[in-house]
Amino acid sequence: MQLHETIASLRAVRARAGPGKRLALVPTMGNLHEGHIALMTQARDHADQVIATIFVNRLQFRPGEDFEKYPRSFAADCERLEQAGVEHLFAPAEAEMYPQPQTYQIEPPPGQAGILDGEFRPGHFRGVATVVMKLFQIAQPDVALFGKKDYQQLMVIRNMVREFNLPIEIIGGETVRAADGLALSSRNGYLSAAERVQAHNLYRVLTKVAEAVRAGSRNWGGLEHDAVMELQASGWIPDYVALRKKLDLQLPSAHDSGLVVLAAARLGSTRLIDNLEV
Ligand code: PAJ
Repeated sequence: MQLHETIASLRAVRARAGPGKRLALVPTMGNLHEGHIALMTQARDHADQVIATIFVNRLQFRPGEDFEKYPRSFAADCERLEQAGVEHLFAPAEAEMYPQPQTYQIEPPPGQAGILDGEFRPGHFRGVATVVMKLFQIAQPDVALFGKKDYQQLMVIRNMVREFNLPIEIIGGETVRAADGLALSSRNGYLSAAERVQAHNLYRVLTKVAEAVRAGSRNWGGLEHDAVMELQASGWIPDYVALRKKLDLQLPSAHDSGLVVLAAARLGSTRLIDNLEV
């Protein structure tokens, strides 16, 4: 695997590959787990060369969030990527990505980025869209992969790519889970042993909502309310549980199908998100 720490070095990959070769990009913030690696493996099916990126993007964290303590495990990450057969790793220092303040940023519309997680993390999706746009401009991939675990992020990036006519195919990867159902996340490491035992309840409650919808329930508000109560009963402090339309994450009407149930909740001081397509 080739390590690229500068933009110039990564740009040369595109130039060397030539127009006939397909490049896949898989952006991450590191502390890699099987969910990330599944995206790398999937990327291999769509391209001649896979480029992973590791960059903890300050722009998408709010003051008081976990930017400073976000887990960094560079050596172990390199080993996993190597084993997954990834050809290129772009891991720039902050000064390489943001040599001066990033005054031009991508502002996703409030209807997409101000709802759900965006309501609780104002500016988060602006930070995500901005760094992803930069990574796209630097790597110039043919295809890029993002996990459905971050469902709203995937939607925002898909729409950005469409509206800016970027010639990049966006592929969504299925969520990889632990044996008890908890979605793998770099933030799971924040959970204490006792919290980790409780953590599967987030998945359990989402599964229950999804099953109720599949069984014909259309009382979205009632299902969301019951799910919030159940999460609270198992020690979680929910920010939201929401049934939305898959395509645009807007409110469904009673006859809509193609839904997703999304949740964000805190267990102790750890905030996790998850979702299930219905
Ligand atoms: P990060 O949280 O490191 O996630 C990198 C990619 O892995 C994202 O596309 C995310 O959706 C995916 N992912 C995370 N957990 C997963 C799981 N359990 N199963 C499948 N895929 C999973 O998301 C980010 O970083 C950043 O916002 C980024 C896009 C890199 C921009 O900074």
